[in-house]
Amino acid sequence: WTATRDKNCKLPMPKGSMGFPVIGETCHWLVQGAGFHASRRQKYGNVFKTHLLGRPVIRVTGAENVRKVLMGEHSLVSVDWPQSTSTLLGPHSLANSIGDIHRKKRKIFAKVFSHEALECYLPKIQQVIQETLRLWSSNANPINVYRESQHLSFQMAIRVLLGFRISDEEMHFLFNTFQEFVDNVFSLPIDLPFSGYRKGIRARDTLQKAIEKAIREKPLCTQGKDYSDALDVLLESAKENGTELSMQELKESTIELIFAAFATTASASTSLVMQLLRHPAVLEKMREELRNCGLLHDGCLSQGELRLDSIYSLKYLDCVIKEVLRLFAPVSGGYRTAMQTFELDGVQVPKGWGVMYSIRDTHDTSAVFKDVAAFDPDRFSAERSEDREGRFNYLPFGGGVRSCLGKQLAMLFLKLLAIELAGGSRFELATRTFPRLISVPVVHPTDGLRVKFFGLD
Ligand code: HEM
Repeated sequence: WTATRDKNCKLPMPKGSMGFPVIGETCHWLVQGAGFHASRRQKYGNVFKTHLLGRPVIRVTGAENVRKVLMGEHSLVSVDWPQSTSTLLGPHSLANSIGDIHRKKRKIFAKVFSHEALECYLPKIQQVIQETLRLWSSNANPINVYRESQHLSFQMAIRVLLGFRISDEEMHFLFNTFQEFVDNVFSLPIDLPFSGYRKGIRARDTLQKAIEKAIREKPLCTQGKDYSDALDVLLESAKENGTELSMQELKESTIELIFAAFATTASASTSLVMQLLRHPAVLEKMREELRNCGLLHDGCLSQGELRLDSIYSLKYLDCVIKEVLRLFAPVSGGYRTAMQTFELDGVQVPKGWGVMYSIRDTHDTSAVFKDVAAFDPDRFSAERSEDREGRFNYLPFGGGVRSCLGKQLAMLFLKLLAIELAGGSRFELATRTFPRLISVPVVHPTDGLRVKFFGLD
């Protein structure tokens, strides 16, 4: 990567520091987490330069700047993950696809997250969540919510999305290997024995082997619209779009979907539990809504089948989840490369440089949110709709042609979890004070959040 300015452009370079040779400011970033970007933004402004994960980068905050980047996909910028992420996800992944290939892949994937498909996944997701909460409640000790939420989202991905029927032992093995993969997906691209990058490659190869075996053993069944799981929908959708997915494409897509769902949903689930503990009035208001909609009777959730429409009618629940994702956006931002030199905030973004757009900093500094640091779900109510003003002020799922494909699934999962927490669980913080949060690789509490769950009396 060349770390030079575009001499043909009269605009100044953004302010900032390029850190040390080769590693740039990567170590500062890993150690300081969210504080890294916040401190530099305060010092250098909404658009600043730095050097991360082996390349020069312009970091971008603020709705208008982010809008320009996201709407400029394929013209001003193109997706460009750090080299480690790109290699580990593989050439067939959505993350590495651009232009027409990306559009075609998204079309195939769209059906996996359609309303009809979600309706089919719903009872299975609910079952996984209920089983998990029962397990948490039966534990005499406090549980580590973040770690257990990772298991929960992994279970959701493996059992519901992929429909794998594997033993607990295999699940455990896959989980640990996947964790190793995730831990090294953002590493310096140095392929040496014991380097993070090498560990990531080994974990990926092991996962691919296990996934290939599970796919070959899996009974594939699509019966009209009564989908069995997302993998079946994916295969059917590919056929409808006139293509067959190779085993390599399937393996890469599978790992990409689990990767996209794993840490993000675990982070949001943990933040949800923490906010419900911090704000009992919010929890009570959620219960009241459940009672008013006939879903909660005498302190127990009704046993009837839940449908998507009843979940979508819970407006306050929607506000709570949106507010959790605003204050604790799991994904801090996205990676792009400048395809041409362009202007942002009066400075140049030189062609070839990395562009890292920011989600969390944009939320945290947005003027459209009243009392921006307060947890206030009602800001998303129909009357206030603070997010309506300037769409790029609120973007937990990104925006433009690369916005999150699993957004509806993630929202459904979080709503189902919140319903079970509000209607079917009692839980208490097991530590004297709430833990501090760290934000790399996703926002999570330093101690994982220790909570004691109880069954309903
Ligand atoms: C992309 C957030 C859950 C699948 C993204 C992006 C964000 C995001 C911000 C865009 C990144 C960029 O601009 O480069 C989230 C959050 C989630 C979540 C906050 C949970 C709370 C999920 C789930 C799935 C999923 C459950 C699927 C099972 C994807 C995929 C992409 C993506 C495939 C890439 C889209 C593309 O490149 O075209 N997500 N996500 N996400 N997400 Fe999610």
